[in-house]
Amino acid sequence: MNFEHGGVGKSPRPFEVEAVRADFPPLHQEVHPGKPLIYLDSAATSLKPSPVVAALDAYTADYPANVHRGLHVLSERATEAFEDAREAVASFLGVEDSAQVIFTRGTTESINAVAMSWARSMLEPGDAILVSELEHHSNLVPWQVVAKEKGLDLRFAELTDDARLEMSAIEAALTDRVRLIAVTAMSNVTGTLPPLADIMDLARRKGIRVLIDAAQGLPHGDIDVRKLDPDFLAFSGHKILGPTGVGVLYAKRELLEAMPPFLTGGSMVVRVTRDSSEWNEIPWKFEAGTPPIGEAIALGAALRYLAAFPAEQVAAHERALLEHAHAVLGRIPGLRIVGPEDLSKKGPIASFTMEEAHPHDLAQLLDRHGIAIRAGHHCTMPLHTRLKIPASARASFSLYNTMAEIDRLGEALESIQALFRRRVSRPATSPARLASPAQ
Ligand code: ALA
Repeated sequence: MNFEHGGVGKSPRPFEVEAVRADFPPLHQEVHPGKPLIYLDSAATSLKPSPVVAALDAYTADYPANVHRGLHVLSERATEAFEDAREAVASFLGVEDSAQVIFTRGTTESINAVAMSWARSMLEPGDAILVSELEHHSNLVPWQVVAKEKGLDLRFAELTDDARLEMSAIEAALTDRVRLIAVTAMSNVTGTLPPLADIMDLARRKGIRVLIDAAQGLPHGDIDVRKLDPDFLAFSGHKILGPTGVGVLYAKRELLEAMPPFLTGGSMVVRVTRDSSEWNEIPWKFEAGTPPIGEAIALGAALRYLAAFPAEQVAAHERALLEHAHAVLGRIPGLRIVGPEDLSKKGPIASFTMEEAHPHDLAQLLDRHGIAIRAGHHCTMPLHTRLKIPASARASFSLYNTMAEIDRLGEALESIQALFRRRVSRPATSPARLASPAQ
């Protein structure tokens, strides 16, 4: 797994999981009597370490002023911290020009911005956008909308049966009208790591723009913006140890300068008359209204926190967690892990089904063991259709998880399976299904 980024940390801090866990207060609670929290839902949202909470608290408590407006001390302090967070993001991504970093509300808004601004203004009827069957709804629905509106062709690169995305599938879906490839850096369900470097090579040769949905990939270091050089990249703060309500759209300067704003109003203008307005420079041209100030500052703290650890040590820990999860879950009969069998093509996520129980039942019963996972279609209905399952249970791992927690997951699943087997053998009195699969 590639874990190179620009790095915004000061002196590197050796990675030691118990020391890391001390930084995450939610891990030190019992969620049911005698059941300490085992948090395996970081793909939905990660926990936030104490320095991130402190950064958000400090803004809220000490200098809760607006940015880029005031001529008073608090506003200057807020503006400085906000723009310093932008530098932290740029540094983490390895991007020299921080004007290419736009603060948004999250990945969804970032991708919508590209769809509603770049695609709407730059693409012509008959042009095509290529996505993969892996995509989260946030990297699919905006393209459906703009495709309908503009008469674009929305094309899909198909997966292998174990949910790998091969270059041959991308090449098969290509036409000479494809203007954008929009692809995840890591599936939020199967953990699939698409061949981003090869996609970029292909796109460069053919003059196709590339958008990387890095919501899942960036927290696990699968992206090197300097080397890959994508045209657009989107990610969310809350999946990378930061708060909710803030995310980032990175884009190349020439694209941002050519794109019209997707939101208009205060801050994004330099001159307004009764009839017209003149846009501000980037990045502010794309930051209409009051931005998520404290959240952006806390995101900067999150990236600094993560970058302080040697990246390869974090990556090795998460890889070990994934391998252990496959070993532990793989021993449970009737449990099927979805996604690549070759773990080198997969990030730290294990989604699975169990013959005896619906994923919702599994999530509900695991909660009684103190184990938090997610169940459902994970905002990827077309992917679940491709996998021929209505839903899956998902355990997702982060730097603060341990091997022992995965052992507890395995033990809990075995006991749940035994419970269901007993119930199925006595169907008249005990229905096997505990929870409705409806969502
Ligand atoms: N996209 C997030 C997930 O996969 C919410 O859980």
